[in-house]
Amino acid sequence: MSTPAMQSTDSKTFDVEWAREQFPSLKLQVNGRLAAFLDGPAGTQVPKQVMDAVQNYFLSSNANTYGAFETSRRNDAMLLAARAAMADFFNCDANEVVFGQNMTTITFALARAIGRELKPGDEIVVTTLDHDGNVAPWRALEEKGVVIRQVDIREQDCTLDLDDLKRKITAKTKLVAVGYASNMVGTINPVAEITKLAHAAGALMFIDAVHYAPHGLIDVKALDCDFLVCSPYKFFGPHMGTLYGKREHLQRFKPYKVRPATDTSPECWETGTQVQELIAGIAAAVDYIAEVGRHYDATARTRREALQTAYLATVPYERTLLTRLLEGLQAIAEVWVYGITDPKRFDERCSTISLRIGEHHPTQIAKFLGDRAIFTWDGNFYAMNLSERLGVEPKGGVLRIGLVHYNTAEEVDRLLSGIREFVAH
Ligand SMILES: Cc1ncc(COP(=O)(O)O)c(C=O)c1O
Repeated sequence: MSTPAMQSTDSKTFDVEWAREQFPSLKLQVNGRLAAFLDGPAGTQVPKQVMDAVQNYFLSSNANTYGAFETSRRNDAMLLAARAAMADFFNCDANEVVFGQNMTTITFALARAIGRELKPGDEIVVTTLDHDGNVAPWRALEEKGVVIRQVDIREQDCTLDLDDLKRKITAKTKLVAVGYASNMVGTINPVAEITKLAHAAGALMFIDAVHYAPHGLIDVKALDCDFLVCSPYKFFGPHMGTLYGKREHLQRFKPYKVRPATDTSPECWETGTQVQELIAGIAAAVDYIAEVGRHYDATARTRREALQTAYLATVPYERTLLTRLLEGLQAIAEVWVYGITDPKRFDERCSTISLRIGEHHPTQIAKFLGDRAIFTWDGNFYAMNLSERLGVEPKGGVLRIGLVHYNTAEEVDRLLSGIREFVAH
């Protein structure tokens, strides 16, 4: 079973020109050509309202927390508003939202706190498909005698081997850590189904939604997961990370913290002074996505409804770009695309594609395209297990092309001619 894709309910089309107008950096020229940002999986561009929110924070609310004066009170109000924005994004309560430096740092801290309660022989399940940020923090618990079991993939389509997953979840499993979508090959995992399997074994479910967040609506209530992380810089916000944790877990597990800091959750999970100006930017990023929804259909009554509508607009749009890109790539004999390529199965993938061109080093291709103002990534993108499993790690990994809602068909066509030119040169 795959995660159900959302279908647009009418024939409205997504207004990409309007969306692009919101992002000043999309006007950047390199070598006399308009930059094509196909590097979204490593971090997306930022709309003007996010930049304004960060600047306004410095102008009017720049202070530390809980002071007896106006700017500090404004700062505290901003933090509450940002928690409420992320709560709408996750579909949870505001006190189930934790801010942190990035997904990796948050996950190491959470794993360490959960690890306090584990004993030698307890098991944690991770996967070969995942970014190392959802592997290394759990593997660090091997030092305590925790046993890590790694679920394999089906190589032919880069999906999780669910039979292997079922075998690896046992009565000893305490936590299952799975990505929502692969940041290398775009596979969307059936995380709702996996959550049920984890819970049936009495284990907690931790979802890394970093790659999924710009491509699909997150609903932690519907998923019933225990924890879910994502990073706002992948969904049009600033460089930070956020965690959803079920309230009872955030209250029960004990984070490592300094004595004077509060024991109250969720603040007790936020060690030290936060990057508050960027938290202001996170709220603006969520509001931007809601505005995408309202621009598409003005009838949304709440921010959560507007967020739902936004993805109803962007998911089908991204799929048209994906289809165009894959058709173009498949017409180039030298190109090998990893992962799901059958359009009938596009519900099971998002618009992130990895490829190789014969034995050419991916850095060479990225450089060739970069010189033509087309920005792609090369390497393993920290999806280390997958890069090794596919046998590409010693060869420089793959070339990754990421499409988000501000990309256009024209950019896809430019990329395809760039690749054709590379193959011919
Ligand atoms: C799927 C996935 N998980 C985790 C991470 C790590 O996120 P962060 O940079 O916020 O630590 C990334 C970053 O690329 C990612 O793509």
